[in-house]
Amino acid sequence: MCGIIGFVGSQQAAPILLNGLKRLEYRGYDSAGIAVIDNGELIIRRSVGKLSQLDALLAEQPVGGTIGIGHTRWATHGRPSEQNAHPHRSGDVVIVHNGIIENYLALKHRLEAQGYRFDSETDTEVIAHLVAAALTRGRTLAQAVREAAQDLQGSYAIAALSVAEPATIVTTRSGCPLVMAHNEQGSFLASDVTPLLAHSRDVVYLEDGEIGILTPERLAVVDEAGQAVDRPLVRIDWDAEAAEKGGYPDFMVKEIHEQPRVIADTLRGRYRYDSGEADLPDLAMTAEELIHARRIWIVACGTSWHAGLVGKYLFEEMIRKPVQVDIGSEFRYREPMIQKDDLFVAISQSGETADTLEAAREAKKHGARVLAIVNVVGSTLAREADGVIYTRCGPEISVASTKAFTGQVIALYLLALHIGRVRGILSAEEGRWWLDQYLMIPSRVEHILKREADLRSIAERFYTKRNFLYLGRGINYPIALEGALKLKEISYIHAEGYAAGEMKHGPIALIDEEMPVVVLAPRDRLYEKTVNNLMEVRARNAPVIALVTEGDQELAHLAEAVFPIPHVHPLLSPVLFAVALQLLAYHIAVLRGLDVDRPRNLAKCVTVE
Ligand code: G6P
Repeated sequence: MCGIIGFVGSQQAAPILLNGLKRLEYRGYDSAGIAVIDNGELIIRRSVGKLSQLDALLAEQPVGGTIGIGHTRWATHGRPSEQNAHPHRSGDVVIVHNGIIENYLALKHRLEAQGYRFDSETDTEVIAHLVAAALTRGRTLAQAVREAAQDLQGSYAIAALSVAEPATIVTTRSGCPLVMAHNEQGSFLASDVTPLLAHSRDVVYLEDGEIGILTPERLAVVDEAGQAVDRPLVRIDWDAEAAEKGGYPDFMVKEIHEQPRVIADTLRGRYRYDSGEADLPDLAMTAEELIHARRIWIVACGTSWHAGLVGKYLFEEMIRKPVQVDIGSEFRYREPMIQKDDLFVAISQSGETADTLEAAREAKKHGARVLAIVNVVGSTLAREADGVIYTRCGPEISVASTKAFTGQVIALYLLALHIGRVRGILSAEEGRWWLDQYLMIPSRVEHILKREADLRSIAERFYTKRNFLYLGRGINYPIALEGALKLKEISYIHAEGYAAGEMKHGPIALIDEEMPVVVLAPRDRLYEKTVNNLMEVRARNAPVIALVTEGDQELAHLAEAVFPIPHVHPLLSPVLFAVALQLLAYHIAVLRGLDVDRPRNLAKCVTVE
C-alpha cells in the first residue's frame, strides 16, 4: 500500500521525509522517492527497492530545502521501477499519489493530444499534468489541485508542490486517508498518523473533496467551493505500533476489516456498466483465445487454492465452462492432460509460491495460456504469466490470509463475467445484473463486520474445544475448508472442512458433544439437504454453530449458536461466509492467548518446495 509524507517549515525537509517514509515501511512498498524545492529548484530522488537504497542515494547526492513530499510505492499500474516511482513531475509541478485513478487512460489520451509527454506507466502522471495545465491557466496551486481533482474518477490522496509557490504544499483526497499536523517547526502531512506521531499528537483529518493547504505557519482546509473549513484537531493516544495497525490490536483483524475497501478497489474501474462487461486490460487474451479455450485449469496453494475451488463452482454454474482445480504441488508432479490453448489460471497472493510458479511454468510448456490472479505487482508469477488480474489488497502482513482471499474471489467474479460476455453465455442485461450484485458485496461485508461482537460471543462459548468440524455444500464447500484452515492456522485447534454430504462417509464417527460443528446453511437449492446433515449432527449431541441466511428462523432451535449472513445471490455468498469464519477463528485464537499474526511453523510466503 502506498504511503505519502510531506513537510514544509524551518527544518531541512529530506531527513524528515525519509524518517516519515521509514515509519510507513510497514505498509509494504517496492520503490520510494522524495521531491524538494531548494533555492527555487525542484529536485527529485527516487529508487527501487528498500528505503536504504534511497537513503544511500541521498547520502551520495544530498538535497537541501525546507519543503518536500515523499512516497513509498506499492505498484498498481506499471511495474516497480525508478521511472514509475513517485514523485511524478510535470514542468515545475510534482505530485505524489495513493489510490487508483479509474479514468486515467481517457485523461492520458486527452493530455497527450494537448502535447503532454508521459514518462511512466503509472496512472499518477495524469494528475501531475492536470495540475500543471491548470497552473498555466493562471490558477494558484490550491485552485489547480482542486480543478485537477474534478477530472479524476477513482480513489486518491494527493500531495503537490510547485516551484511557483515554494512554501506551500497542497493536498486533497477522495476515498484514501490523508492526515495533517502542525508544530513550531512547520506543517506535516501523511497518509496515516504513524509518521506524524513523532511531530505532534494533535492531527487534522482531511475529508473527501477537501483541500489542505500547508505552509510553515499554518494548516488551512478549504472545501470544494474554496470556502474555509474549520476542522478540529483530533488527539491521538496510540503508540507508533498501534498506529501501524490503524488502532487494531493486530494486523489480522485490521486486514479482515479492510475487506469492504479491498473488494471495492478490486472491482473499481474494471467494468463497463452500460454493456454489462468486465474490463480487464491486463488480461492480454483475445476474445478468440477465451472462446477457444477448451478447459479452464486453476492451480494454487493454501488459501488461494480455496479461492480456486470457489472459481470452479462459479465458472461451471455461471458460464458453463469445465474447470479443473489443482494444488500446485500435485499439478506439477502428475501428468496433467493440459493442452495447447487451455486457459491456466494461477492464483497467488505473493506471486512467489514455488509450487504455484512451477505449475504455471509446466502449463506454459504445454502451450496453455497462463493468467495470474495475484496481489503483488511485479512478482515472479505476474511477470511470467501471459496476462494478470491484480487483486488490489495492499500488503497482507498477517500470515493467515484474509483480504487476499476475498480479493481473489472477486477477481474470479470479474473473470467469469468477462468470459461469460465474450462467449455470449451472458447477455448485456445479465452482465449488468451481475455487476449490480457484485457492487453490493462491500456493504454486505460491512454488515457482517458490524456484528463482530456476536461472533466473539460464539467464540467465547467454544474456544476451549479441541476439535472442530466445518460443513458446507456446493460453492460453500471450499469455504468450509477455508474456515477450518483459518482455525487450525492461528488457534492450533484441529479442524476439518468437509462437504456436508460426505460427512456420513467417515467424519460422522468423530462426532460427539465435545466437537462443535460449524454448518454453512444458506437458503439455496441445497438448503434442505444441509438441514438434514445438521439433524444428523444434532442427533449425536454435537453443538452446532449455524451460519444462516438472514431471516431464517428454522435453524434457530436446532443450533447452539446462529449467525445470520445477509442475503446475496448464492454464488456470491462465499465471500460473506468467509469473512464471518475469519472473525470466528480470529476471536478463538485471541481468547486462547495466541499471537494471531505470527502463528508457529507457518510462513507468509513459501518459496521452497
Ligand atoms: C502460505 C501461507 C498461506 C497462503 C499460501 C499460498 O502457506 O501461509 O496463507 O495461502 O502460502 O500463498 P500465495 O502467496 O501463493 O497465495
